[in-house]
Amino acid sequence: METMTMPEQLKATTVDFLPLHGTDYVEFYVGNAKQAAHFYKTAFGFQSLAYAGPETGVKDKVSYVIRQNKLTFVLTTPLRINNEIADHIYKHGDGVKFLSLKVEDATDAWEQTTKRGGKSFLEPVTLKDDNGEVIMSGIHTYGETVHLFIERKNYNGIFMPGFVEWKSEYNPTDTGLQYVDHCVGNVGWNQMNPWVKFYEDVMGFRNILSFDDKDISTEYSALMSKVMSNGNGYVKFPINEPAEGKKKSQVEEYLDFYNGEGVQHVAIATKNIIETVQELKRRGIEFLKIPGSYYDTVLDRVGTIDEDLQPLRELGILIDRDDEGYLLQIFTKPLEDRPTLFFEIIQRKGAKSFGKGNFKALFESLEREQDLRGNL
Ligand code: FE2
Repeated sequence: METMTMPEQLKATTVDFLPLHGTDYVEFYVGNAKQAAHFYKTAFGFQSLAYAGPETGVKDKVSYVIRQNKLTFVLTTPLRINNEIADHIYKHGDGVKFLSLKVEDATDAWEQTTKRGGKSFLEPVTLKDDNGEVIMSGIHTYGETVHLFIERKNYNGIFMPGFVEWKSEYNPTDTGLQYVDHCVGNVGWNQMNPWVKFYEDVMGFRNILSFDDKDISTEYSALMSKVMSNGNGYVKFPINEPAEGKKKSQVEEYLDFYNGEGVQHVAIATKNIIETVQELKRRGIEFLKIPGSYYDTVLDRVGTIDEDLQPLRELGILIDRDDEGYLLQIFTKPLEDRPTLFFEIIQRKGAKSFGKGNFKALFESLEREQDLRGNL
């Protein structure tokens, strides 16, 4: 069953040894960053921000930085074979490599986490240019995913030393995407609790919500999930693992195609989900379909909401309520050919939870897609 432990836990007055100011950027390793950048600009409404590649002295890779409000993505592609990035893409397909976190002190963040058992990915390094300095460091998390700690308080350049401004005459309008609400990791059988412990011990996070396989199961398949949050709640990482069902769990399908653990979805906040989703659909983004019957009874479950039900029904936007308010959410289909990473679009109206009341409708929809791929 669901257990919610946030109120008591957050009352604890222990010092946060890893204060985080939120997500700094999400970096994807992709097969063709030029085309990916065009896709995210065109379909999701990002703007060109910065670039690094051969023209700026980087010989083995190219990175495009795109931004929308407080949401920054870096899309990186290798130029040669036999390197870590090329191997990553060969194994995982396009996916999230870095969940980079904004910190006050990247040296301290590295010291605090590695002394608690975090495995170092990058010792603190200072990058400088005419606009100041960025200090970054990093530790490994599940699979080949990495948390970078980014300290940019003494930097006022466009993105980071090593990057130049990417000026483009192609500037699609934004779609109202604001910031990363949460990022979900899929881990292997019996690996959820070890990773919960990692986030507790190494990063000082707390388990604020837990869902067992009875919460998250359909007739056929199941998963378990625990939501980890840092002290101020700016950074939330739910961790999923597959559970036994009659058929293959959606988490298992992900693990098969990603060839290991990794980021399942990035949830992005909007202030007006109806307008955002209408625009994303107009630009060709495909979302999971929810049966019309969901809307026949949803208001009995969630009570009165500010929005008209009709556009929510037409768009397939889901609604859930907790003690503090309600939320509206919708999930894209996978953004690659492999059934791996997808996005969630979420608008919170007080609720701090994750849409438990929608799990059944959502997972049945996911399973219909999984079945079409022959992987259920
Ligand atoms: Fe989510």
